[in-house]
Amino acid sequence: MAPRFNKAWHYHTRMVIAGERQPPQPGAPTSTPLYSSTTYFHQSLADFDVALAGTGYAYGRNGNPTNTALEIATATAEAGTGALTTASGMSAIYTAILAVSHLNQRPLRTIVVPRDMYGATTILLRDFVANHGTTVITCDMTNSAEVTAAIHTHQPDIVYIEQLSNPLLRVVDMAQICAAARSVGARTVVDNTIATPIVQQPLTLGADFVCHSATKYFSGHGDSTGGVVVVSDEALMGPLRHINATLGMVLGPFEALQILRGLKTMPLRVMRQCDNAFAIATWLASHSAVSTVHYPGLAQHPDADTAQRTLGGRYGAMVSFELANPQGLRAFVDVLELVLPASTLGDIYTMISIPAMASHRGLSPSERQARGISDSLIRLSVGIESVDDIIADLDGGLHHCRH
Ligand SMILES: Cc1ncc(COP(=O)(O)O)c(C=O)c1O
Repeated sequence: MAPRFNKAWHYHTRMVIAGERQPPQPGAPTSTPLYSSTTYFHQSLADFDVALAGTGYAYGRNGNPTNTALEIATATAEAGTGALTTASGMSAIYTAILAVSHLNQRPLRTIVVPRDMYGATTILLRDFVANHGTTVITCDMTNSAEVTAAIHTHQPDIVYIEQLSNPLLRVVDMAQICAAARSVGARTVVDNTIATPIVQQPLTLGADFVCHSATKYFSGHGDSTGGVVVVSDEALMGPLRHINATLGMVLGPFEALQILRGLKTMPLRVMRQCDNAFAIATWLASHSAVSTVHYPGLAQHPDADTAQRTLGGRYGAMVSFELANPQGLRAFVDVLELVLPASTLGDIYTMISIPAMASHRGLSPSERQARGISDSLIRLSVGIESVDDIIADLDGGLHHCRH
């Protein structure tokens, strides 16, 4: 029997095979090859025409078979019907925003965004959305009444959501916000990088576009920069492809191959990382050298109820916390042996970063303060190592920073 892809297979099975074995030919490779070609020959001008119209390959900016394999795999990961690969997470977010303007056939009037989100996204919205004439309304999306009121009052073109927010790991009620957005004809664009589809699949809850920094959990090995936009409605793919082919924010095929390889183990890795994070957050919460722990799986987290009610029983693999003695920050970080100081997240390695110095460096101190991001907030991206070793390393650091 020819190899095939069965949609009835379980998630883990589909994630191993998605994007491969297409089409099933005898003697075809079991793993997608790297297509580095920037152009493709055609038997006739008619074939060339078809390829450029989007149903084949013509030129690097319009598509590449290695990228197609990753697009099928990411659509499978997020339960979407189509996906577009982009050069980075930031270009994925910007492409999705531009796609809504393209669909509406006019500049965007208003976009509603959360208060707590990734620093570079804040800068993108400020310098390339608000500065181009769109009104950006900020609200607390974890507050159902506030976000619903903002959507009904401002009738936005886009409701932009980050699930789980960076770095305070706030949780929004995805289904409720998507329904409110839909009721006023707004499109929802969700950055699901930190939650990952293992924690929540926004397209199944009514979202239109899901963006990922594939640099993070999808790649998982800290060796490729990339992005992806996944959609639930095939009709949204046309604008996405048009923008990508025109602006050229395309993902290189080598990175596509690396991310495709990473994605096969994403469910395994992320489940282990979430379990490790839960154990570490619980341990940190009872440590006398720690004053505050932000983790949505803990009862003291402000969104614990929403997390329990709406997430699938896993709460992500990031933990943020504050030291009881903030002056001990440098001493704490400097003695760590296993946990890497690094300004990314989602890799197999456990990494530590200080948002005020890294992901949120581009915001002013008052902007950070308004979001509850102190200069001493520590963000931990939990890896797949033995949880006992991670805890032992953190414990050594915490003993060092008490005085
Ligand atoms: C939540 C989130 N979204 C988007 C991005 C941007 O991704 P990239 O660095 O791949 O452009 C990041 C990067 O850290 C992120 O943390």
